[in-house]
Amino acid sequence: MPDPQLVIAARVQAALAAAFGPSYADADPVIRPSQFADLQANVALPLAKKLGRKPREVAAEIVERLDVADLTSGVEVSGPGFVNITFKDDWIGAQAQRVLEDERLAVPAAAAPQKVVVEYSSPNVAKEMHVGHLRTTIVGDAIARILEFLGHEVVRDNHVGDWGTPFGMLIEHLLDLGEEAAASDDSSVSDLTAFYQAARAKFDSDEEFAGRSRQRVVALQAGDPETVRLWQVLVDASKRYFNTVYERLGITLTDADIKGESFYNDMLAPTAEELEAKGIAVISDGALCAFPPGFTGREGEPLPVIIRKSDGGFNYSTSDLATVRYRVDTEHVDRMVYVVGAPQSLHFQMVFAVARMAGWLDGGTVAEHAEIGNVLGTDGKILRTRAGGTVKLIELLDEAVERAGVEYDKIQREEGFDEATRASIVEAVGMGAVKYADLSVARDSEYIFDFDRMIAFRGNTGPYLQYAAARIRSIFRKGGLAPEDAAGPIVIGHEAERALALHLLGFGAALEQAAANAEPHRLAGYVFELASVYTTFHENCPVLKAPDEETKASRLALCAATLRTLVTGLGLLGVPTPERM
Ligand code: ARG
Repeated sequence: MPDPQLVIAARVQAALAAAFGPSYADADPVIRPSQFADLQANVALPLAKKLGRKPREVAAEIVERLDVADLTSGVEVSGPGFVNITFKDDWIGAQAQRVLEDERLAVPAAAAPQKVVVEYSSPNVAKEMHVGHLRTTIVGDAIARILEFLGHEVVRDNHVGDWGTPFGMLIEHLLDLGEEAAASDDSSVSDLTAFYQAARAKFDSDEEFAGRSRQRVVALQAGDPETVRLWQVLVDASKRYFNTVYERLGITLTDADIKGESFYNDMLAPTAEELEAKGIAVISDGALCAFPPGFTGREGEPLPVIIRKSDGGFNYSTSDLATVRYRVDTEHVDRMVYVVGAPQSLHFQMVFAVARMAGWLDGGTVAEHAEIGNVLGTDGKILRTRAGGTVKLIELLDEAVERAGVEYDKIQREEGFDEATRASIVEAVGMGAVKYADLSVARDSEYIFDFDRMIAFRGNTGPYLQYAAARIRSIFRKGGLAPEDAAGPIVIGHEAERALALHLLGFGAALEQAAANAEPHRLAGYVFELASVYTTFHENCPVLKAPDEETKASRLALCAATLRTLVTGLGLLGVPTPERM
């Protein structure tokens, strides 16, 4: 494992154990980046406090026992008691060489692989996907890819909203229009918002229609075959629409990953019964409710999770409780990551609390809500079209590509692309821009959807990183070489080479961080920093015109390792990297 932080952490722990006793073997050595060295270990400060000694003395004792001669050129105590560590150039070069030669870029696979459900996208049938779904789709896909790369067994789960009372009116509306309306792609059903709104309007204004719709819900819940068939027609039309969005964005979800709310329908009653039998759910005002401790309303009154309504119907919470139960009892997962909008935070906290009361989350299964912040327009309000309607995703993506084309034509690019090549590059730039913009900010922060910022070829953007990768490839093309043939050896001779090589060693740590709390922006930050240190290298260290053959071979190897790390990192974020730009 070449990650400098982990290597040093282990050595400092060994020194702590040697100096202060075996109980310190797994103390946190508090390793941080350092201004004056490569890293610093700050453990002496808290430790001195605990031991009632002087921090610098404790630090000196750590240094005395620290066995790092093989990898550092200097260790010194500085300031109030920091242990500053500077790596040997030889060590950095040799570790970077390992990155170059290793298929996984020297990222170890998880020692204890987990089975992880990553639930994301989860749009609603017969409704348009909105920018909120876009963000959970993009962020969720990156989380799934990262966990998979680290060797976990990932179960992608698209929890589509495909059940509930609206389906009565939707089915009746479909019958009124004629079923052919859902058959073709340019059908009225393909304009899902219009279809939904028309059904809603009729429901609100036409008593006869409303009556039919209510009966239809009853028939659907009773499993009437003809009704279920019509329901399926709507579900299939929506799936076709979801898939066009997924394909366009390069999302890895397939139909096989769909386990919608309807999937859990038969489990709702048994779930409610189990909660009642365990005494967790009780009848209150005719409804079956659970009251997880710690959740209270404005007046301090306990807040209910309604499991079964007084009319006998189940609701959203019941469905999510049945889902937890199924994933634990049947799928036997270790971890569930719910990539869902932050506004549903209370819902999930309460559902998880009830699930814990029921003992479903006791056996070591963790459930976490990976909150997704709202997507706002440049006016700071929820994103809407100029006319005030919900923004249609496909139109949004079309606009991204159009604007990407304008920006792309401004950059200095390689010669001689035909129209088809240009079109495919511009498509990748547009999608990459939209996706990277979603991924580069902390997923739970609100985020402003701003085309101008995301499509720039400068700054922390998708296009900048795609271009950085394409520029490295063009060095190899100019030299008549293939990146795969760059063999090194990597020898550090310049400060900028050293910084680049050192950063290459941190890829695994960045992935671990991204995986730990389901935070792809940690990986985005790493990749952006990599492009920045590479740029400094590129400006200071000629590659093809290097002073001698050894230096040239070493620099080409650094370029190749950077390229592969960049492409792999962006690939795990789901951002495509065109071969040429
Ligand atoms: N379909 C829901 C929506 O569009 C999201 C579902 C979230 N997942 C869940 N298990 N409740 O808001």
